[in-house]
Amino acid sequence: MILAESIIINNNLSVEEKYVELIKQVKSLLDKKDNLLSNLANFTAALKQTFEKISWVGFYLFDGEKLYLGPFQGRVACTEIKPGSGVCGTAAEKKETVIVEDVEKFPGHIFCDADSKSEIVVPILKDEKLYGVLDLDSTELSSFNETDKKYLEEMILFLSQNIL
Ligand code: SME
Repeated sequence: MILAESIIINNNLSVEEKYVELIKQVKSLLDKKDNLLSNLANFTAALKQTFEKISWVGFYLFDGEKLYLGPFQGRVACTEIKPGSGVCGTAAEKKETVIVEDVEKFPGHIFCDADSKSEIVVPILKDEKLYGVLDLDSTELSSFNETDKKYLEEMILFLSQNIL
């Protein structure tokens, strides 16, 4: 049986091959006609179920003043982050992806989960304005690199141009 909403990715693929397959499937999973929160929630689930290295993945959305916790997968997390604070606030302020190989070495890192060791945060821009960020955490050091950056940015661009 094939479910209308599903992400099926072979675990034997390389990280790069998984992203290529994931992007293809996410493009048909998400639908602008669906509720925005439903789309964002499924986006986080699609990533979490594809990559074992992800311990937490979620959105922080910008309301003009602060980033507030949006749809996510993982343990409970802090609800508000100011632009400029932590990894999320830094990526939001710079409007650039931030990769942190060791969170202990990132000044101002906000500890939501004591087990988190590395992180990547991708800013989300809509019509050149800050919309929010996508945050991914891992309980291993150096879990995220330029490959993750490339494909996550591609996924966020699709989201911004087709769903938001
Ligand atoms: N570590 C983030 C905070 C969010 S959690 O990791 C879910 C930061 O420093 O911005």
